[in-house]
Amino acid sequence: MGFDEDGIARMLALEDPDALAALFREARAVKLAECGPGIAVRGLVEAGNVCAKDCLYCGIRRSNARVLRYTMSMAELVAAAETARRIGYASIVLQGGELESEANTRRVEEFLARIAPLGLGVTLSLGEQEPAVYRRWREAGAARYLLRIETSDPELYSRLHPPTCSFSRRRDCLVRLRELGYQVGTGVMCALPGQTTRQLARDVLFFREIDADMIGMGPYIPHPDTPLAAADTGLTDEARLRLGLKLIAVTRLVLRDVNIAASTALQALADDGRERGILAGANVLMPNITPAGYRASYRLYRNKPGGGEDDAAVRVDLDRRLAKIGESALYGRSGDSRHYVRRVDIPGREA
Ligand code: 5AD
Repeated sequence: MGFDEDGIARMLALEDPDALAALFREARAVKLAECGPGIAVRGLVEAGNVCAKDCLYCGIRRSNARVLRYTMSMAELVAAAETARRIGYASIVLQGGELESEANTRRVEEFLARIAPLGLGVTLSLGEQEPAVYRRWREAGAARYLLRIETSDPELYSRLHPPTCSFSRRRDCLVRLRELGYQVGTGVMCALPGQTTRQLARDVLFFREIDADMIGMGPYIPHPDTPLAAADTGLTDEARLRLGLKLIAVTRLVLRDVNIAASTALQALADDGRERGILAGANVLMPNITPAGYRASYRLYRNKPGGGEDDAAVRVDLDRRLAKIGESALYGRSGDSRHYVRRVDIPGREA
């Protein structure tokens, strides 16, 4: 398709309400044509907030001494996966702070082995790891991996991360994951201090260049206990949300058949933020199934929604929200990215 940096940057700069409505409508039509009706759902398990990294924007960064650190036990992890099965989420995402240790690698392997009988689709979101670790987890049953690049601009990346973080290592990880046969997800934050629409346009081209299967993006939301909060540009919640929606729409138009999540950050900015994400072209929701007692400790940014405590009520609420916008959740389906199914050419495999 003929989308270049200029064209994408122009779409991202649109502010006229009619032009925006047309952009979202078109993206929504592409979602329906390429991904079909329905919204894929994954239960999100926030497995622990102990993190070796010190990203300047993130509430669970290592130096934030105000966070109560937790690590879910194996029994809690398995119970969360069983909860997903019971609710009807055929897929889970295991996310957590970035840790590189043999103990952590083994723990994830054990978890994957323990839940294999449940037949859930499993996505890991556990940060940068050595290729051997990614291989072990793939062999233990993980089929998908999410690793946001956060920004594809190396200079902006270096302003958001301590010098110990390497942009090129992060990008290399995405390449390795892809070689190992994972469905690969990446993404960025928008509305970052000092970020331009041109950088965001290049982010979208980066997704295409690495041929991502899944995209998770969301507006940056300052967290008061982080260094980046002081640099904040003071955008309104609505302006942050609008930029997030535009980025979803444009990514849908450019990448077409990938999975795109309506992220929790959208909901932090407006109660119906995720629904608006779907109306702008997203096709995946990730309801939180972390045990309620831990949720307040996995606070990446201000006002992060905890979700309901009662899993059955969460499903009722989700169904009601989706029905309002003429959508419904695809319970019982693991929801492979169409892009992945097409690129690996799995005959008869249904997304
Ligand atoms: N605002 C929005 N998103 C954030 N993340 C981390 N901190 C913030 C923040 N302050 C996102 C990052 C990370 C994901 C798990 O959460 O993009 O990859």
